[in-house]
Amino acid sequence: MTVKIGLLGFGTVASGVPYLLQENQKKIFDLAEAEIAIGKVLVKSSEEAQHLVAQGHDYDFVTDVEAILSDESIAIVVELMGRIEPAKTYIAKALQAGKHVVSANKDLIALHGTELLALASENQVSFAYEAAVAGGIPILRTLSQSLISDKITRVLGVLNGTSNYMLTKMVESGWTYQEALESAQALGYAESDPTNDVEGIDAAYKVAILSRFAFGMAIDFEAIHHQGIDVITANDVATAKEMGYVIKLVGDLQETASGLWAEVAPTLIPTNHPLATVNDVMNAVYVESIGIGQSMYYGPGAGQKPTATSVVADIMQISRDIVQDKVGQPFNRFDQPSRLADLEHVSHRYYLSVQARDTTGQLSHLAQLFEKHAISFDQVLQEKASQEDAFITVITHEITRQQLQEVTKDIEASVDFELGNVFKVLGD
Ligand code: HSE
Repeated sequence: MTVKIGLLGFGTVASGVPYLLQENQKKIFDLAEAEIAIGKVLVKSSEEAQHLVAQGHDYDFVTDVEAILSDESIAIVVELMGRIEPAKTYIAKALQAGKHVVSANKDLIALHGTELLALASENQVSFAYEAAVAGGIPILRTLSQSLISDKITRVLGVLNGTSNYMLTKMVESGWTYQEALESAQALGYAESDPTNDVEGIDAAYKVAILSRFAFGMAIDFEAIHHQGIDVITANDVATAKEMGYVIKLVGDLQETASGLWAEVAPTLIPTNHPLATVNDVMNAVYVESIGIGQSMYYGPGAGQKPTATSVVADIMQISRDIVQDKVGQPFNRFDQPSRLADLEHVSHRYYLSVQARDTTGQLSHLAQLFEKHAISFDQVLQEKASQEDAFITVITHEITRQQLQEVTKDIEASVDFELGNVFKVLGD
């Protein structure tokens, strides 16, 4: 049997699909239980099609999606265009036309997943998207299948390769944010508009999807607090290092007494924590659960072959379901009502960078502000900021988000202090 696919888009990831189908032909044929063939490929213009043909790509290129949607021989639509529109409309039409869909589009699934999954269910077709989170790391199937018996209590992830590359350079080589960004753009990691990568938006999309698989909760994207790496200063990087930490952009999903806390933010990680070793463009997902305990899944979060590997795995699973007449199985069965955490139940350690006049009594005055909110210091470091000023860096013991809000309000209101960055700190 042959299962035909229609590719929407023929960019970096899509062109990795024929590579795998060719290079791993026998295994894919045996385990997909069918030959997987590329039926049609949607591109933007006839010029793009001509260009691809001239490069030696021998496919039936089309410029109108209807050519794929109305082709009854195409069973699976593989969307690799990215962004929201027209991908959303094309996927919706494909599902309504009774086609199975594979996508790597995290923006779309994070923002409109509920609607599209309902459409897939109504039309009794499959919709799989392993590549949408951490590209080459098979994390979604791991959570929904291998960890099916476990109860997950926390998921921490280094989920954006671009910002991780930049922070690695800032931490290890002392580059400025701007130098790191220019290098990431020159290497093709960051887009010319790198907003989603550096502001934590791309990682927050992945956190939204992970929440469905790890906690069964489809939380609204707006409920995920996100802060980017553009606020991190050279002083933060150096001070964190001196105190025994590296700074990384970390996605965090944590079960609390009242519900789920979801956040993406620059985070201080102790240098002996497994996530501290995740450098350059690599991604990792660190899972805490009552059964396994701690486990970490590490690998490339983007790139042609890694991402195409996850995409082809989805295609193969659907192909097997077609052959065995079992289509329409949900990609993830874990589903429970979303409950978000109350701030008084969200506790972490925090790093606070405060600038003050380097005069008598300043440290004791700052300590009084913390004492007022029953916050105790874990580590304190004072360094010269200039001739007259000092940086006082505090790492607190565990405090609630509410206590944090109250103390930062007091520091900001004081004429003696200028509050710099406040970051979460992992570890006990
Ligand atoms: N821009 C993303 C990253 C690619 O840098 O990780 C995968 O989503």
